[in-house]
Amino acid sequence: MFSSLILVAIAFVKDVSSSTLTAVSAASDFPIVKSMGSTIEGASVDKFGNLFAINQTHFMNLSDTGAEPLLVARNGSFFSSSRITRTLNFLVGDATVHTVWKGLVPLFPPNSKMLQPNDIAINADESRVYLSGMNFGADTGDLWYYNVVENTLQNINLSGTEPPFFRTNGIELSPDDTELFLSSAQNNPDESVRAAQIFRFQIDAETGVPKYPRVAIDLYETLSAKGLDPAASPGLDPDGMRFDIDGNLFISLNSFQSVLKWNIHCDPSSATVITLKTVKFPANLELAGPEGKDLYIIGKCSDEETACIDHYVHNTTGRAFHNLQRLS
Ligand SMILES: *[C@@H]1O[C@H](CO)[C@@H](O)[C@H](O)[C@H]1NC(C)=O
Ligand SMILES: *[C@@H]1O[C@H](CO)[C@@H](O)[C@H](O)[C@H]1NC(C)=O
Ligand SMILES: *[C@@H]1O[C@H](CO)[C@@H](O)[C@H](O)[C@H]1NC(C)=O
Ligand SMILES: *[C@@H]1O[C@H](CO)[C@@H](O)[C@H](O)[C@H]1NC(C)=O
Ligand SMILES: *[C@@H]1O[C@H](CO)[C@@H](O)[C@H](O)[C@H]1NC(C)=O
Repeated sequence: MFSSLILVAIAFVKDVSSSTLTAVSAASDFPIVKSMGSTIEGASVDKFGNLFAINQTHFMNLSDTGAEPLLVARNGSFFSSSRITRTLNFLVGDATVHTVWKGLVPLFPPNSKMLQPNDIAINADESRVYLSGMNFGADTGDLWYYNVVENTLQNINLSGTEPPFFRTNGIELSPDDTELFLSSAQNNPDESVRAAQIFRFQIDAETGVPKYPRVAIDLYETLSAKGLDPAASPGLDPDGMRFDIDGNLFISLNSFQSVLKWNIHCDPSSATVITLKTVKFPANLELAGPEGKDLYIIGKCSDEETACIDHYVHNTTGRAFHNLQRLS
């Protein structure tokens, strides 16, 4: 009896370890994180592999223990995202002022038609910026395209897809900049709704406009096929998304305490779940570190008040880190 129990236990552990990957806490490497509170979000990386993040009011260099904020909220700002660029200073999304800060100045004039913006994607030569945004209560989302060269801001029509778009959040360009990936999530107050997808758009090579959205991966379907039970959560809430240069897309599932790793060149059934250690509500993520291969995941800890950070050791350089090495 005793030995068969042990065998069952070993078999269980083996099964779990072969189908899931695990992260560890990185709190001791980034002591500033614990002072950033529940609104920690918007991870980004610079060309040296330093890690950055925002909270509602501050844009911080997490790699610098004595760091002064790089940007502090003004005009009722609610920061939502960040990206370090080669040619546009740093970018910080501001959900309540409805612009993106380019250093201390707005990238484009505040636009109240934008729901937020929330997350930011930028192409390799930094001529095209894409912005997601949502209204949580109304369960709606939007997508905007800012053409840096022409200084034009355009709303992309998300109507008419099947399934429809709800809240948009995670946004990222494929490593070759030909496709845009955008998350959609429907709120799930009574656990009856099971809608969370990542859509893929083709980028019009001439104009940069994202077109022809279609579902790339259905997150409930993918997790259910793995025997996981997403219905037990209030909704998966896909949040942050980042690519490595081989097409592995990392998607943080804010309400499912995990990150999904999926290679866009493979069938969604090959996606793998990364189990988190201390981050209970993974808001955002980025590949940083000296070679850009260390995936850092940030979000609220289980107390829902403190900020946590976990680390997953990956083997391929992140898209953002890679693009920042370009000389022109
Ligand atoms: C954001 O982080 C900074 C730096 O750690 C901290 O001083 C500030 O209180 C935080 N803001 C919020 C709203 O938690
Ligand atoms: C971030 O911190 C690292 C480590 O201290 C430092 O080398 C780097 O210059 C800082 N970057 C910025 C933009 O403050
Ligand atoms: C911030 O507020 C000040 C004072 O109301 C105003 O002059 C300034 O234009 C605002 N800046 C932005 C970017 O909204
Ligand atoms: C958005 O697309 C839908 C469906 O194709 C269409 O019915 C609607 O008129 C479009 N809206 C705008 C503002 O172009
Ligand atoms: C990274 O690991 C994956 C999964 O084990 C493997 O398929 C891939 O070839 C590896 N890539 C590199 C660059 O080592």
